[in-house]
Amino acid sequence: MRALRNSKWSKYGPDVLPAWVAEMDFAVAEPIQQAVQRIVEARDYGYPMRNGDKAGAAVTVSFAARMKERFGWEVDPALVLPLADLVQGTYAPVLAFSEPGDGVVLQVPNYPPFRDVIQTTGRKLIPLAMRDDGSRHVCDTAELAGVVDGRTRIFVLCNPQNPTGRVFTRAELQAMARFAIDHDMIVISDEIHADLVYPGHQHIPLASLGPEIAARTVTITSPTKSFNIPGLRCAVLHFGSARLRDRFLARIPARLMGDPNAIGVDATVAAWSAGQPWLDAVTAHLLRARDRLVGRLQAELPEIRCHAPEGTFLAWLDCTKLGFNTSAFDFFHDKARIAFSAGETFDPACHQFVRFNFATSMPILDKLLDRMVTAVRRS
Ligand SMILES: Cc1ncc(COP(=O)(O)O)c(C=O)c1O
Repeated sequence: MRALRNSKWSKYGPDVLPAWVAEMDFAVAEPIQQAVQRIVEARDYGYPMRNGDKAGAAVTVSFAARMKERFGWEVDPALVLPLADLVQGTYAPVLAFSEPGDGVVLQVPNYPPFRDVIQTTGRKLIPLAMRDDGSRHVCDTAELAGVVDGRTRIFVLCNPQNPTGRVFTRAELQAMARFAIDHDMIVISDEIHADLVYPGHQHIPLASLGPEIAARTVTITSPTKSFNIPGLRCAVLHFGSARLRDRFLARIPARLMGDPNAIGVDATVAAWSAGQPWLDAVTAHLLRARDRLVGRLQAELPEIRCHAPEGTFLAWLDCTKLGFNTSAFDFFHDKARIAFSAGETFDPACHQFVRFNFATSMPILDKLLDRMVTAVRRS
């Protein structure tokens, strides 16, 4: 793994086991590899055309087919904009649909770049707490009564949620949709982890709930997480109505979003159209890894609170009861030589949390857990 030049295995020293950034340790699906090889072998590096159209159009068509097949959600490719990545796909609608000083509701803890988007664009963060109810993390928009006002323009929803691994139920999504409608907000719905959901749970695209919520929802997604191709930079932004798309394009010209590159386009289309057998095998492995992680923590480190994630390959570990006198990230980095994602990057109050990326082989997973147990016993 260390021969790879990816973030996960390159950032920390050779004695540190990485379990941080959302990259998986699994070889890419064969159809994706073949799509990339085809371009490389033909040295086919011109402005890409696919099926008589600009290559990005192939992504929009593939996205529509994928949503229909996986989630029964009818998508019009004309409402889809291809782009390079989802952080870009968060900045752009924030800039298009709000002004500096306006409020943006964000579930906390959350994927760190969302906080950066709100801060660097001069918007005001309105936190919506994800609370541990004893068996999972939940949020209640009723807590925001009196906090949101006419200048609260946007609700950033992350579903499945990073880092808690929640896959919101239809009832929860309906409540969030009602809240957004009642307060006239635009929702940016990040659904990048939608393909990695475990038995007993179901991903429901927010915009599929109905036309009223769709008309104010920008859905952003890509195959980069579930198919482990984050270096290939290709994503989509979907508008739930033509009016929403036109309002967006009046503020952010499509040219400003750039075009995804040829390799990203072909890899995305290959992932969505021919990658499912690979994804099924990976999901089955991740389910075993999740259960092993949660089981070993309960048996050997019961002081750590961790609800089995319902989706994603990320587990959110509350280490408060271990009483570290440093942050949980520093403890495990210094004493166990493990690099997790630091809880405080998801929410400044969460310095006793770490996010554990368990998308690795069973031997590495066991080594990570062994190191944790040994370090805690010694402390
Ligand atoms: C919730 C969420 N959104 C967006 C991204 C960004 O993905 P990308 O950089 O591949 O577009 C990530 C990456 O981990 C993520 O977890």
